[in-house]
Amino acid sequence: MNESTIDSLREALKHSPNNTPLRLLLADTLLGLNRLEEAETEYTQVLKFVNDTKAKIGLAKVFYRKGNYSACNVILEEFIESGRADIEALVLYAKGLLKENSVAKAIDTYKRVLGIDPNFYDEELDSQLRVKGGPTESEPEEEDAYDSRFLQKPSINFSDVGGMDAVKKEIELKIIKPLLHPELYKAYGKKIGGGILLYGPPGCGKTFLAKATAGQVNARFISVGLSDILDMWVGNSEKNLHEIFELARYNTPCILFIDEIDALGASRSDMKQSAGRHLINQFLQELDGIDTSNEGVLIIGATNTPWNLDPAFRRPGRFDRIVFVPPPDEATRESILKLKLKNKPIDAIDYSQLARKTENYSGADIDAVIDIAIELKLESSFTDGVPKPIETKDLLNAVKKHKASTQEWFTTAKNFAMFANDSGLYDDILSYLKIKK
Ligand SMILES: Nc1ncnc2c1ncn2[C@@H]1O[C@H](COP(=O)(O)OP(=O)(O)O)[C@@H](O)[C@H]1O
Ligand SMILES: [Mg+2]
Repeated sequence: MNESTIDSLREALKHSPNNTPLRLLLADTLLGLNRLEEAETEYTQVLKFVNDTKAKIGLAKVFYRKGNYSACNVILEEFIESGRADIEALVLYAKGLLKENSVAKAIDTYKRVLGIDPNFYDEELDSQLRVKGGPTESEPEEEDAYDSRFLQKPSINFSDVGGMDAVKKEIELKIIKPLLHPELYKAYGKKIGGGILLYGPPGCGKTFLAKATAGQVNARFISVGLSDILDMWVGNSEKNLHEIFELARYNTPCILFIDEIDALGASRSDMKQSAGRHLINQFLQELDGIDTSNEGVLIIGATNTPWNLDPAFRRPGRFDRIVFVPPPDEATRESILKLKLKNKPIDAIDYSQLARKTENYSGADIDAVIDIAIELKLESSFTDGVPKPIETKDLLNAVKKHKASTQEWFTTAKNFAMFANDSGLYDDILSYLKIKK
């Protein structure tokens, strides 16, 4: 369609101004060319004479494109309530609602679309209303499903965690002692509660240590990744979060471990600002235990990127202990190596040499190195079918094949520690890097 088509449509309308289909064709053409003012005039003209559905949707589209979302929504709302809505109208309405931050209503509307056509997919709506890759299931999960999924009894304890004595001590004080001796805390009128936040480069044992903590004491352990909570509908994230906390409150004494807390930060930029904000507020409320007491619930959080976390998380009673989990030092690497090779066919291993050669390697890197060494060994065992013991040189070869992964994290962390070191929050990073304050 071009200028001349529009001219001839206008010409034709001069002769039959009440020809609704013709005027709609003109209006749609103008809309297609993004000539919004002119399209608006024509749709309005149609609606003066007839209550036409197409003209209404057309007008709503004009308003949407002009950024006048409330006008767009008003038109669609009336139309949808009359029960005549089709997918196109519902989708536009859902988008208009999102623009106006009516997330819950937008979800309801999008669910109606999926009710009509379960295979419908709209990239914009899908990415904003639920996180990609999540289940298409829109029904909330039953409580029982949470129980089996999140309630655990870890079989590892502190003795399975190499080194990390400073962190273990913090956990001992803040988590384990209060769980084992609540009456002592009560006697001194000291409130038990609040949480500990573990942060540091990936693969250095945050998750592992949290699991071991639960095994260390005879407490129930609930482990959730924040992505578990976020992987469904945005509106349901808050409900999921609440149910997890409730589950912990019903199962005291309980350690509630929330992994990947940084996902909250990510969610803020991914989703609409307001939706993310909502979830953060919900999280803070749950931490504070406003509606229900959190007594007997001890909370451990973990993140690789603490700087993405809202400072409100660090207030007293929330994550009031922030603990740096550094890459394993030489002694720790040696004990990790020993722990991991314990039940494998091995020769006499020069652990101290290996520990020296794996500077900056995380626990996960060491896992990977051992894995590589085993693969190499397996290959050579295939020839005669006899498993050969792993030797020091196999591991040294494997070290050459796998690079340390912790350094990258420090390039970012260093900047925050130097330039955004809010009340010495990241002093541990500076002292680890031997940078003077
Ligand atoms: N101190 C440690 N002792 C034993 N194993 C460790 C230690 N630190 C890390 N690991 C190993 O590295 C893996 C990755 O650690 P993880 O706890 O998932 O790291 P993070 O949560 O810090 O990213 C663990 O599964 C564990 O096998
Ligand atoms: Mg982890």
